[in-house]
Amino acid sequence: MATIRLGDVAPNFTAQTTEGEINFHEYLEGSWGILFSHPADYTPVCTTELGTVAKYTDEFKKRNVKVMALSVDGIESHHGWIKDINETQNTSVNFPIIADEDRKVSELYDMIHPNADSKLTVRSVFIVGDDKKVKLIITYPASTGRNFEELLRVIDSLQLTAYHQVATPANWKPGEDVVVSPAIPTAKAKEIFTKGVTEVKPYLRMTPQPNL
Ligand code: BEZ
Repeated sequence: MATIRLGDVAPNFTAQTTEGEINFHEYLEGSWGILFSHPADYTPVCTTELGTVAKYTDEFKKRNVKVMALSVDGIESHHGWIKDINETQNTSVNFPIIADEDRKVSELYDMIHPNADSKLTVRSVFIVGDDKKVKLIITYPASTGRNFEELLRVIDSLQLTAYHQVATPANWKPGEDVVVSPAIPTAKAKEIFTKGVTEVKPYLRMTPQPNL
């Protein structure tokens, strides 16, 4: 297992999922992606997480993002649990869940952290761009459910900064001012960002979100 770092091409794999055999790169083709692991089926926090992801289907679609979940449980377990998720979370799981019983993908993506749990995956998240490169990696412990609003916020930031020479400041939310890339001199920034540039410091220049 090689360490996966930001900017690397997301390692490809073929896996058994609740929607049949899927090749990750073919599945992503032309889309952004979120690959995320959970520790185990039929557990409470994971049930709320996958239900939440299902409820955000339209939000992911708007952003051209495909999601794929993973745990080391088998296909039959996943199918049975999906019924519980749909019933208890009042939703309909409509994304594939990898049945990684042989841990091939978990090991490829370093999702098992033996000092936390030797057998189960932690709550890993990999956001992959439409160029198939890894854009974000986060890891949560089993006891803490993830904030999927935050993942949407990060995708908004990633997609904005992929196409405009800006970065997003602390706690940024879509619609708020953004930071001009430090590589652009202020005079040039004023030509590019026609909505205006505020120079707080020579290295800290703010501009309204350019793609609104
Ligand atoms: C849960 O999803 O609730 C959970 C799973 C594994 C360990 C602890 C909590």
